[in-house]
Amino acid sequence: MVLGELVKLRPLEPSEADALWRWHNDPEVMRWMEDGYTEPLAVARKRLAERPGNSYGDVLYGIEVLADAKLIGLVRLRDTEPETGCSWLDVYLGEKEYWGRGYATDALRAMCRYGFEKMRLHKISLHVVTENHAAHHIYRKIGFVEEGRLRQVFRRDGRWFDQFTMGLLEGELR
Ligand SMILES: CC(C)(COP(=O)(O)OP(=O)(O)OC[C@H]1O[C@@H](n2cnc3c(N)ncnc32)[C@H](O)[C@@H]1OP(=O)(O)O)[C@@H](O)C(=O)NCCC(=O)NCCS
Repeated sequence: MVLGELVKLRPLEPSEADALWRWHNDPEVMRWMEDGYTEPLAVARKRLAERPGNSYGDVLYGIEVLADAKLIGLVRLRDTEPETGCSWLDVYLGEKEYWGRGYATDALRAMCRYGFEKMRLHKISLHVVTENHAAHHIYRKIGFVEEGRLRQVFRRDGRWFDQFTMGLLEGELR
């Protein structure tokens, strides 16, 4: 378990597949995220139940609000390479009524601190669609900087959007 000030990060239980499936089928939540092909609930349940436990290369945590113990989203450090100490970060809150209360910022800080201190990472990177202003804002706020712009790599509603690649080095977390 990883503690923030407002949330804790902890492994997911197989029974929580239903919440994940509901979030993946909410167009507002998925607005700026790759949603892939829709899968039946039974497949989502099986996938989570059979997911191997967390390991250095792939750490997936549920974001749970400390005040009411509600699971509201996910944060993940994936594709981590021991040779370079570099990892890729994903975050989202599926419970929309919890948006705008500082939970993602707190979860990101806690996860990045965990990555740098516990996993001894050197760098954490991410991709964000340039139009996803709230996400871009919180990444910048905690210290991520833009390192490049990938042109027209995200498609939504018949339009192409750019993505920023952003990076955070050890010692830069705010
Ligand atoms: C983006 C997301 C993670 C933010 O989570 P959250 O818990 O609402 O974020 P926080 O409350 O910690 O912070 C939101 C910040 O964004 C700011 N913000 C909100 N809307 C904004 C906008 N349109 N433009 C600029 N900033 C905005 C808020 O003012 C706040 O900043 P502040 O604390 O400095 O005032 C959440 O809305 C989400 O999961 N969205 C859907 C999935 C997603 O887009 N994930 C990111 C993929 S890269």
